[in-house]
Amino acid sequence: MKTSKIPKDSETIMTEIVFPNDTNPMGILQGGRLIHWMDTASAVCAQIHAESIAVTVSIDKVYFKSPVHLGDILTIKAKLTRVFKTSMEIYVEVWARSVKIPEQFLTNQAYFTFVALDSDAKPLIVPAIKPVTSEEKKQYSAALKRKKERKH
Ligand SMILES: CC(C)(COP(=O)(O)OP(=O)(O)OC[C@H]1O[C@@H](n2cnc3c(N)ncnc32)[C@H](O)[C@@H]1OP(=O)(O)O)[C@@H](O)C(=O)NCCC(=O)NCCS
Repeated sequence: MKTSKIPKDSETIMTEIVFPNDTNPMGILQGGRLIHWMDTASAVCAQIHAESIAVTVSIDKVYFKSPVHLGDILTIKAKLTRVFKTSMEIYVEVWARSVKIPEQFLTNQAYFTFVALDSDAKPLIVPAIKPVTSEEKKQYSAALKRKKERKH
C-alpha cells in the first residue's frame, strides 16, 4: 500500500439514468435515491483510497436545488478532500442533464465522511493524502474546520 496518495487516485465518477422506479408520481427523482447514488460513489472512492471496507459515518447538509426528471442523465463525482486518522472526508457533486439539452446543471453537492474498518470492524488508520491542484489545496485546508463542526 502506498503511504501517501493524491485525490485523483481514488476519484470516482458514476453515471445514472433516471428510470420510472426512481421517481415520485410526478416523474421527479426521489431524494433518497439520489443520496443512495451519492453514498455509493463516495463509498467506492473511500474504499479505493483506504484499500479496506469503509462505512458512512456522516453526511453533511444535502440541499435539493432543482428537480431532476424521469429520463435525465446524472453524473455523480466523488473526490477525497482530506484524510484524518481513520476517517476520510469526500466531496460529492451531482450534475444533471436531459437527453435533449446538452448543458449540465449542478443539482446537488455534499460532504460525506467515511471511516475505514479492519476485519474486526474497528476503525483503521488510512494512508495520508496530498492535495495537488489549487482547488484540492483549498478543500484540504477547509476540511479541518468542517470536521470540528460535525457533532460526535
Ligand atoms: C464508524 C464507527 C466504527 C466509528 O466508531 P467510533 O466509536 O465513533 O470510533 P472513533 O470515536 O474512534 O471515531 C473514528 C473516526 O470517526 C470519526 N467520527 C466519529 N463520529 C463522527 C461523526 N458524527 N461525523 C464525522 N466523523 C465522525 C472520528 O472523528 C474518527 O475520525 P479520525 O480517526 O479520523 O479522527 C461507528 O460509529 C459505526 O460503526 N457506525 C456505524 C457505521 C454504519 O453502519 N454506517 C452505515 C450507516 S447505514
